Amino acid sequence: MNALLDTYPAFPFVLDSGCNDMVVSAEGVEYADWYGGHCVTMTGHCHPHVVAAIQAQAQRLLFYSAAARLAIREQAAEALIAHLAAAGGQRVFFCNSGAEANENALKMAIKATGRMRIAAFAGGWHGRTLLALSATDDHKITSPFAKLLVPALQLPFADLDVLAATDFADIAAVIVEPIQSMSGIRTAPREWWQRLREVTAAAGTWLIIDEIQTGLGRVGTSSGSELYGIQPDAMTLAKGLASGVPIGATVFSASAASAIEQGDLGSTFGGGPLAMAALIATLEVIDNERLIERAVSVGGRLKRSLIGNAVDSVLGEGLLLGLRTRGPAKDLKQHLFERRMLVGASSDPHVLRLMPPLTIKDETIAALECAVKEFGG
Ligand SMILES: Cc1ncc(COP(=O)(O)O)c(C=O)c1O
Repeated sequence: MNALLDTYPAFPFVLDSGCNDMVVSAEGVEYADWYGGHCVTMTGHCHPHVVAAIQAQAQRLLFYSAAARLAIREQAAEALIAHLAAAGGQRVFFCNSGAEANENALKMAIKATGRMRIAAFAGGWHGRTLLALSATDDHKITSPFAKLLVPALQLPFADLDVLAATDFADIAAVIVEPIQSMSGIRTAPREWWQRLREVTAAAGTWLIIDEIQTGLGRVGTSSGSELYGIQPDAMTLAKGLASGVPIGATVFSASAASAIEQGDLGSTFGGGPLAMAALIATLEVIDNERLIERAVSVGGRLKRSLIGNAVDSVLGEGLLLGLRTRGPAKDLKQHLFERRMLVGASSDPHVLRLMPPLTIKDETIAALECAVKEFGG
């Protein structure tokens, strides 16, 4: 019997190492990683600049909590705020995961507004802690805890009429992903986003944008909020923020931050020096290698090249893409796996997800294009 609890359907091989857009199994078989370790490997596996920054920091100081000021933590905060400038965030709190980042944002909205209800959207996915779960539309993981979850209004995604008809007066926060990923790369038009910002601001309701998959450059702008020209009260980030070192971040606007007092938020490991070194190095790689532009150009290429007999349309933005398949998505997933390419499923049985490193190589792209074409006959 395996000592490790079996909680996730894993790939049918043991993974041993990774380099840029490829991973290698314990048996020495190479796979192209279009799954990105679940949307995490922004800069590819083991980018030398990120690895060197982690090694240097590990030798200098492995850990100290928020009880001590650390220059590297303050530098990381400044670099992140500068990177996300278009979305208007001013202050950041670091934690260790996406669910925690959302939990912190929702808690601060409840405290600041004094309201006890939250709102979220059908198809949204925000994490497994209790507040984040309350906002998540995934019956399988919410139902055992239904009685413990906070009252959450669930609205249809991308519906302008519903926004106009909803009274947000007793809602502390609305939480939403710029692109709903798990439910099959679902997007909403810019007009809807602008209206969502207007109605929440008018009601004194926080708008929390969950950028855990979309943040930093994956969607072809420094954040999904920037893509739609909106400035949230709080933005949450995790996944690729430190190229794979565990991290989460909640970025607050100046006005949201002004409601937060000492002692409201805390985390032993959040803002630890190893994650901060990896975050700074990740932002440097994104800038130095112009990875946001790369996300735009590769995403544009795939949107044109992958459509054919197997794929009906390519959804999403930049390098957070959904392949809408004509037949069952799992058949194309299996075909690609047999050609040593890892892709993600979604809760839509006709959508496969691509969320590769932004450093993906041209030859890896060409191989995927060829394999998808071959499947279509
Ligand atoms: C959009 C979104 N929000 C939140 C989370 C939760 O992040 P974590 O698994 O780091 O808690 C995820 C994880 O997949 C996610 O995709």
